[in-house]
Amino acid sequence: MSEVRVGPAGRVAGAVTVPGDKSISHRALILGALARGRSYLGNLSPAADVASTGECLRLCGGSVRPFGAGRVSLDGGGARGALSSPPAPLDCGNSGTTMRLLAGVLAGHDVEAVLDGDSSLRRRPMTRVAEPLTAMGAEAETTPEGTAPLRLRGRARLRAIDYRPAVASAQLKSAVLLAGLSADGPVRVIEPSPSRDHTERLLRLCGVSVSSGADGVRVLPGPLEPFGLHIPGDLSSAAFFLALAAARPGWRVVCPGVTLNPGRTGVLEVLAAMGAEVTVDAGEPAGGVEPVGTVTVAGARLHGTVIAGALVPRCIDEIPVLAVLATQAEGRCEIRDAGELRVKESDRIALLADGLRSLGAGCEETPDGLVVEGPARLRAARLEAHGDHRLAMAWAVAAALVPPGGGESAIAGAGCAAVSYPRFFDDLATLLGRG
Ligand code: S3P
Repeated sequence: MSEVRVGPAGRVAGAVTVPGDKSISHRALILGALARGRSYLGNLSPAADVASTGECLRLCGGSVRPFGAGRVSLDGGGARGALSSPPAPLDCGNSGTTMRLLAGVLAGHDVEAVLDGDSSLRRRPMTRVAEPLTAMGAEAETTPEGTAPLRLRGRARLRAIDYRPAVASAQLKSAVLLAGLSADGPVRVIEPSPSRDHTERLLRLCGVSVSSGADGVRVLPGPLEPFGLHIPGDLSSAAFFLALAAARPGWRVVCPGVTLNPGRTGVLEVLAAMGAEVTVDAGEPAGGVEPVGTVTVAGARLHGTVIAGALVPRCIDEIPVLAVLATQAEGRCEIRDAGELRVKESDRIALLADGLRSLGAGCEETPDGLVVEGPARLRAARLEAHGDHRLAMAWAVAAALVPPGGGESAIAGAGCAAVSYPRFFDDLATLLGRG
C-alpha cells in the first residue's frame, strides 16, 4: 500500500472497535517472558511494533506462542535468568518502545546483545536509556551520535539507583524499572511529570511491589508471577476516529473497550476543552489493574485551546491528529512544551506544519510546538506519511475533513499505518460508509 486516497466525509456516525493497545501489548509480552510459569494474553495488538517485541524476545530464548485472534501464551523463565544472548542483532524495526524496554530488561540479564532498528529508529535518541543503565552497572554503548545500534552487556545483578530523567518518557521510566527487577535494592524514578504507567500496573499484576506517589515510582526487585490479561483497545488508535467525530456538530463515534490509563486520556480532555461532547462509560479494569471503558465523542463547533505542560505527555501520540483537528476550531490552538515530538518516528512538528499548510491551514512551527489558526477550509492535497504511522493516519483524518466536493487527497507511504494499526484504512472506510 504505497499511496491511499481519501475523500471528504459525508456524515460520520458509528462505532469502531479498535485493536488491542500497543503500549500494553509490548509490556504484557515482556512481563510474560519474565514471569515464572505460563501467562495468557488475549487481544494482543496486531501492530508491527508489537511483532518486533515478540520476535526479539524469541531471539533471546523467550517462548512466545500465538494461537490465533490475538491470543498468546508465554512460558516465562523468571526475572534475571529468563533470557539469553541472541545469536544475531535484535531488529526492533520502527519501535522505540521495543528498543528502550528491551534494553532495560536485557541490562538485568547476564547477556550480550545489539539492539538495532530501521532508519527512523536509528535517528532517535538512545543515550537517555544508555546512561541510567550504565549507572546501574550494565554496559550500554550507542553510536557517537547517541543513537542505535545500541550495544549492551547486561549483568544479572545491577546497582539500585534513584533516577531523575530530564524528560517525561514512559519508555525511559520503564527501561529503568525493568532493569530494577535485577537490582540489589529498590529503584526509584522521579519524572518531571507523570507519563503512562502501564509498566507499573502490570508489574503489580505480576505480584511485584511497586509504589507511586509525589516522590516518584519505586520498584522492589523480586520474582514475577504469571498472569492472564485481556488487553483493552488502543485509545491512541481510537483517537483518529474520535477526533474526526469531534469536528462537526451532528457527527458521533463510539469506541468500546479502550484503555483509560490516566497517562493516556489527555486526548479526551483536549477534545472536551475544544468544545466536543465526550462521554466515558467505565467498565471492569483489565486484569483488575488497567482502567477500561467505552468512549463516545459527539461533534460541536470547536474553539481553540492550549496543550502544554503536564498535559503533553498524556496526549503525546495524539498531537498529530489534534493538530489536524485544530484547523477546524475557531481561534488559535497552541501546542507548547512538546519538543519530544521532534524525536518521535519523524520530526512531527516540522512535518505537521508542512502538511497542514499544504492543506490550506494557517500553521506556525515553534521550537517546541505549533500554533494553528482556525477555522480553515481545508483543500485536498498530496500528503506524505514520511514513514510515520501517526502522520499517515492524521492525514487521512485531514482528508476526510476537506469539505464535500473538495476532492480526494493522496497520502503517499500510507502503508506505514501498520506500525500501530494495520486495518486503519479499512476501518476508516467502513466508518465513512465506503467499506
Ligand atoms: C510509549 C511511550 C511514549 C509514546 C510511545 C509509546 C510507551 O514514548 O510516545 O508511542 O509505550 O511507553 P516516550 O517514552 O518516548 O515518551
